[in-house]
Amino acid sequence: MEKKNSANKASHSSENGKDTTLAKSRSNGKPGSEMKSANNSATKAPKMDEMLSKLFIDQLRDIYYAEKLLAKSLNKLAKAATTEELKDALTDHQAETETHVKRLEKVFDILGKQAKAKRCDAMDGLKKEADSIVADTEAGSFTRDVGIIIAAQKVEHYEIASYGCLTQLARTFGMEKIASLLHQTLEEEKAADETLTSIAENNINMEAAQEEEA
Ligand SMILES: [Fe+2]
Ligand SMILES: [Fe+2]
Repeated sequence: MEKKNSANKASHSSENGKDTTLAKSRSNGKPGSEMKSANNSATKAPKMDEMLSKLFIDQLRDIYYAEKLLAKSLNKLAKAATTEELKDALTDHQAETETHVKRLEKVFDILGKQAKAKRCDAMDGLKKEADSIVADTEAGSFTRDVGIIIAAQKVEHYEIASYGCLTQLARTFGMEKIASLLHQTLEEEKAADETLTSIAENNINMEAAQEEEA
């Protein structure tokens, strides 16, 4: 699909050191034309480029589904949480998650592809697990917060793995603008994960342990 752009390859490294990927992509009127061939070398199988491109788009659609699902479920988790600290962290990350959805839409736009979600079985499973943790723990307990943190960190790790791989793939394709958008989200996922760790370590785990003893 994106093989017809050999004339555009040079545009990725700009004359002034600026990333001109998006501008070039739009100016030549060929959607997705910046998806640089991953196999410039004639020694590689020609099919590889197409297969890898398809995998890349599929994985973007997978994480797009996941982010949209999370945008809803983080709100529910924030409401179910016991402590203000955890509620605030989840609410903040919910707002960031909406930005992640928009960032992915920008990526699809740059690629000239429709922003279409593809069912992500892993995120469906993680959401189900989070729901059952809430159902199985007492409202207002610290134990519930420990459970929510465990569920939320599993989600963050899925996102970190996804965005890490997608960022690297974008770089492989020479799509610096897209790589930078994905990397920005990757950093926010890592920060969210660290925030959850520090909430657990500083307070909630200990409170929950005492709660169990009472
Ligand atoms: Fe996210
Ligand atoms: Fe996240």
